[in-house]
Amino acid sequence: MITAALALALASAPPPPAPDSQPDWFATFGVEKPKPDPVTGELPVAPYVQSDSNAGATPFTGDAMARAFGGQAGIRRMTNDFVAISIADPRIKPIFAATDLIRFRRTLYEQFCYLLGAGCHYSGRDMVEAHKQLGIMTREMNALVEDLQRAMRQNHVAFAAQNRFLSKLAPMSKDVIRR
Ligand code: HEM
Repeated sequence: MITAALALALASAPPPPAPDSQPDWFATFGVEKPKPDPVTGELPVAPYVQSDSNAGATPFTGDAMARAFGGQAGIRRMTNDFVAISIADPRIKPIFAATDLIRFRRTLYEQFCYLLGAGCHYSGRDMVEAHKQLGIMTREMNALVEDLQRAMRQNHVAFAAQNRFLSKLAPMSKDVIRR
């Protein structure tokens, strides 16, 4: 009898959550879940003033760097590879758990394209604002740099151009690293 009742209870119980799944924290805390933009799929962020100066550095002059990265199409491919490598990297993967990857790919592409002098504007937040909640450590910054090097290598960016780009980004570390 008890066995039959147990079997019935188990049969009607909801399936156990997948090992990686999170509870619905919005429901738990009784707050409204942010809605993605119907056109872009991006989630809203707190208001800020858009400006190229948020990109954290001035662009390279001339078109040599843009060409070294394969123009806008090459920069797009390299950026998407960089994001894919970073979010799969066990050293930093958890930092991206709550990231809106649609927005991240777009704003990172804009920043790289702008800095490389490939004819874009940057519409994202400044580096302090974008990273202040993340508690990033130096070793995580180093991991991200290795991932970027891998993405650039994979996309056949010449070594000298890789290093010039890394030198452009390096001073931003002080705005990103918090611990
Ligand atoms: C020079 C180094 C870095 C640059 C140039 C950079 C660039 C950016 C840009 C352009 C954004 C988007 C801003 C926006 O959406 O308004 C962003 C966001 C983000 N970055 Fe970085 N980043 C750097 C270092 C790092 C590091 C070391 C990590 C972690 C290992 C990291 C993790 C993130 C995450 C998780 C977001 C999304 C934040 C959110 O969801 O609100 N970044 N970064």
